Amino acid sequence: MTEEIVKSALSKVTYPGFTKDIVAFGFVKEIKIDGKSVSVLVDITSSAPEVAHQITTEATDELKLAGCENVVINVQAPKMPRESSSKGKNIAPQVKNFIMVSSGKGGVGKSTTSVNLAVALAMQGKKVGLLDADIYGPNIPRMMGLEGQKPEVIGNKVLPLKAYGVEVMSMGSLMEEGQSLIWRGAMIMKAIEQFLRDILWSDLDCLVIDMPPGTGDAQLTLAQSVPVTVGVTVTTPQMVSLDDSRRSLDMFKKLNIPIAGVVENMSGFIAPDTGVEYDIFGKGTSEAMAKQFDTHILAQIPIEPAIRTGGDEGKPVIYFAPTSETAKRYMAAAEDLWVTIEKINEDGGVDNQAIQPNTPPGVSACSTQAAAAPKASSGESCGTGCGCH
Ligand SMILES: Nc1ncnc2c1ncn2[C@@H]1O[C@H](COP(=O)(O)OP(=O)(O)OP(=O)(O)O)[C@@H](O)[C@H]1O
Ligand SMILES: [Mg+2]
Repeated sequence: MTEEIVKSALSKVTYPGFTKDIVAFGFVKEIKIDGKSVSVLVDITSSAPEVAHQITTEATDELKLAGCENVVINVQAPKMPRESSSKGKNIAPQVKNFIMVSSGKGGVGKSTTSVNLAVALAMQGKKVGLLDADIYGPNIPRMMGLEGQKPEVIGNKVLPLKAYGVEVMSMGSLMEEGQSLIWRGAMIMKAIEQFLRDILWSDLDCLVIDMPPGTGDAQLTLAQSVPVTVGVTVTTPQMVSLDDSRRSLDMFKKLNIPIAGVVENMSGFIAPDTGVEYDIFGKGTSEAMAKQFDTHILAQIPIEPAIRTGGDEGKPVIYFAPTSETAKRYMAAAEDLWVTIEKINEDGGVDNQAIQPNTPPGVSACSTQAAAAPKASSGESCGTGCGCH
């Protein structure tokens, strides 16, 4: 028996729920061969017992077919994810943990980070949803290869789309391509609430939420509607981006959202031909800022053409180039993120009670001018469609 034969047999075992096999995913960590006896260590990222069971059965069958006699498959799996222990208002109670991905500036890579972290978490066995809360510039459908697909409507609820093992919803999937919408404060609140209440998310371990840039109504509404378990800030290494990222981290603090870390994106450049890493915008500059907010760098993601083409073509680098340096860094960031989430839940979870709007019961928190008009206070609608009456 040779390692080549063993590897070729194991490459017929697909990872449950995916089209790729366990060798291509890099899950086969150790192969020991003694005559016709073979023992294999498979290190998987799913904690579901049925995944380990299916891999053991299929790998044993394939190795026996290839001529092995004594086969031992050791599957290493992470612990079962803990339930959420969060309190306060939650209009999407079937979701255990909420991950808010924010940045102070636009264009720094929030959507790219959200997509790759969500797919990484799904590859690690979590039940994951990805909500594109960037109602101004929804990019997630393109990045997830879902452009032009319309979700199914059931009654007055909508089924999320699905790609790469992740449930996905975006304003981009609900409106016509190229159409622009003008949002007023109250409409933003309504849209975010509907994304959480009227989308038929499954029982999810986590929902990754890609936010519009900045610290506005969308962020506040989200934090008031569900207990956000952790916030992730995405920044590029230049000082001008870091200045804005401090505002994003400060927002997490003000909203009582624990900070899971900072993703330093476009941190160096890996030349595709030589693999040599160059410094472009600087590197490691966000370290001091992270320290200032008692957090750490989750990942330094280099500028890599494959990340951009992956985004444009709807083929996330984490899924299509899982052995690339970038994918490894996203994988490690997702693991790190999950450790933080488990720790937060062990320590009692989060509570958004203190940031609820402090209007007395029956009085609207609607912030539009119209709401302040006598009409609204007399119980009629303010006319903006915000549902304030
Ligand atoms: N590390 C990277 N290497 C190469 N290209 C990248 C990288 N990160 C992001 N990009 C590309 O940069 C562009 C902007 O990224 P992205 O859309 O994720 O940013 P964003 O912060 O979500 O922007 P917005 O604020 O407009 O929503 C995209 O074309 C994306 O593919
Ligand atoms: Mg974006």
